[in-house]
Amino acid sequence: MFSFFHSKQQDGRPALLKNMTDVHTHLLPGVDDGAQSESDANDILQFMHKMGVRRIYLTPHVMADLPGNTPEALRQRYEAFVNNNPPGPELRLAAEYMMDAAFTHLIKKGLLTMARQHVLVETSYLSPPPRMKDILYELSLSGYQPIIAHPERYLYMHGDDYRRLKDNGYKLQLNLFSLSGAYGQMAERNAILLLKQGLYDYAGSDVHRLDYYRDSLANLSPSRSQLKELERLIANNHTLWQ
Ligand SMILES: [Fe+2]
Repeated sequence: MFSFFHSKQQDGRPALLKNMTDVHTHLLPGVDDGAQSESDANDILQFMHKMGVRRIYLTPHVMADLPGNTPEALRQRYEAFVNNNPPGPELRLAAEYMMDAAFTHLIKKGLLTMARQHVLVETSYLSPPPRMKDILYELSLSGYQPIIAHPERYLYMHGDDYRRLKDNGYKLQLNLFSLSGAYGQMAERNAILLLKQGLYDYAGSDVHRLDYYRDSLANLSPSRSQLKELERLIANNHTLWQ
């Protein structure tokens, strides 16, 4: 292992984040468990910008427990936020959908997506939703490309489960800071393994708070081979901005 910060550019920014597109963040203020105020969100955005991040998808949680997060309400909140926002990274709105009982109804109404109908989805950490396979299949049939958020964090997923998801054409998104141990040893071990197997497609921060982002970034120390794979994922993130 060598220190991640050996790969810093001369200006002190981690080279990995240079011109990065972050595809998973909770920075739309006051709509979920991420940034609660515009000032908190702006502090995080300014820090990320300083670190080199240039494009950010805001991906608020959409789940049955947050009934107010309809596409219309989130779009309205987003417009108000960006109109009021100091210069920094370029922003776009998408969402992180929990594949719960209400989700199949939302598919029919239309989802908030990244480029080319890519849609970020998650499940509970403890157990898969009933009919997870069917839900993902229905998403595909409806013209969406599912991206499974942070597969390394799900306690119920093991060995072949990841490969099966990939074989079905679904994409996998690494939480960058799983590699910093931010979600415990199991997530870190899984992330290391999935990264080694080349199973990830994208990498995002899943940032909720500034201290979390700053500390996790400082604790990130990928090996050379991991860094190479991370660069591939981050290059791939750009394709979601077209
Ligand atoms: Fe998230």
